[in-house]
Amino acid sequence: MPVVPPVRAKREPSHEHSGNYQEHKKGDVWFKAAFKRGLIDHTPLMAEFKVVITDFGSPENELEAAEFRHSGLDVELIRLNAKTAPELLPTVVDADALIVQWTPIPRDVIAQLRQCRVISRYGIGVDMIDLAAAGEHGIPVCNTPDYCIDEVSTHTLSFILMLNRQIMPQDQHVRAGKWGPPTPTPPARLSTQTLGVVGMGNIGRVVVQKAAAFGLKVLVYDPYLSADTAAQAGVERVELETLLQRADYVTLHCPLTEETRHLISTAQLQQMKPTAYLINMARGPIVDQPALVEALVSKTIAGAALDVFEKEPPPADEPLLKLENVIFTPHLSSWSAESFVQLRREVVQNVVTVFQGQQPRSIVNRKFLVAPTRQQA
Ligand SMILES: NC(=O)c1ccc[n+]([C@@H]2O[C@H](COP(=O)([O-])OP(=O)(O)OC[C@H]3O[C@@H](n4cnc5c(N)ncnc54)[C@H](O)[C@@H]3O)[C@@H](O)[C@H]2O)c1
Repeated sequence: MPVVPPVRAKREPSHEHSGNYQEHKKGDVWFKAAFKRGLIDHTPLMAEFKVVITDFGSPENELEAAEFRHSGLDVELIRLNAKTAPELLPTVVDADALIVQWTPIPRDVIAQLRQCRVISRYGIGVDMIDLAAAGEHGIPVCNTPDYCIDEVSTHTLSFILMLNRQIMPQDQHVRAGKWGPPTPTPPARLSTQTLGVVGMGNIGRVVVQKAAAFGLKVLVYDPYLSADTAAQAGVERVELETLLQRADYVTLHCPLTEETRHLISTAQLQQMKPTAYLINMARGPIVDQPALVEALVSKTIAGAALDVFEKEPPPADEPLLKLENVIFTPHLSSWSAESFVQLRREVVQNVVTVFQGQQPRSIVNRKFLVAPTRQQA
């Protein structure tokens, strides 16, 4: 049976313990940790706000703790490495805010959050959080919408340039002691080619701008893009089928939703040109991965470039990894010294803004917030 800590008696703001940071290392016995929490939860030294980081790629959270200290708020910051609801629940039921990277936050977890006022995500995609359930409980979900637009759009163009210029085959050719063209077919001139962008939001828009510098013609499929916005960006808005038939590179920049899961499967891959490439920067499950393997093996399409996978990291026996006509990066298209600092600051800023009684900038579940937010209640 899960151990549920009591509702905490909070101390007054501005206590000297502000920004306290406690890490629950992987392998901790969660029930034991919860029990310990129960022992201290009724002391008068509880911070005013309890914030739980459910998981994070970096081994430490000093920057986040410093941001909370800087805010002047009295925050106890707890770090978990939780993957499942039983690992989460004992610690999060009485949290005032959650900061989430990849841990799933499903409806049944949200229903047990007694006093959570905001869920803030490290990143842009919010597919691991049940947005509707959070909205129904009056909990705004926020993301960090612009920490990596420059990095991901540049990564996309890097893939296009590598595929067009056949950089990987030429590199392997030279390493094998060979010289001259690695294949009999020369690459097409990039400025004669067409890029198909699926999803023209913040990242897609900058991909379009950068592609223009290389003279690529751009087609866009985005059912939520207005004709005016498309015209202003100088792109042609088309249906997905048309984009797939005409593009030399198809790049995905839409969110993972029930609508986009396996948006690209066998039928869509068969609509692409045999000389075309698929690029996925968005989320692995937008592409039906076994269908992609089949299309790459049978040369239905020429190749692919992937930053994301259906299962991450991909298992060692993943058939994709054996194919030569694919370029991989390990879900790091957002990676730069600047982007990761911005990410960590903004994820905290969302929480601080809510605790200060204001509206955070990037609420992504506004349409589900039927109840007044807990801050308003
Ligand atoms: N690989 C990475 O490290 C990385 C980093 C950042 C973002 N991402 C992913 O990229 C996605 C896009 O990021 P963004 O900042 O541009 O988001 P955004 O919300 O600004 O834009 C998403 C666009 O997709 C469109 N869209 C929604 N449903 C669609 C559909 N069914 N078909 C086509 N288009 C659709 C929306 O209208 C919107 O214009 C994120 O949701 C995230 O999952 C990945």
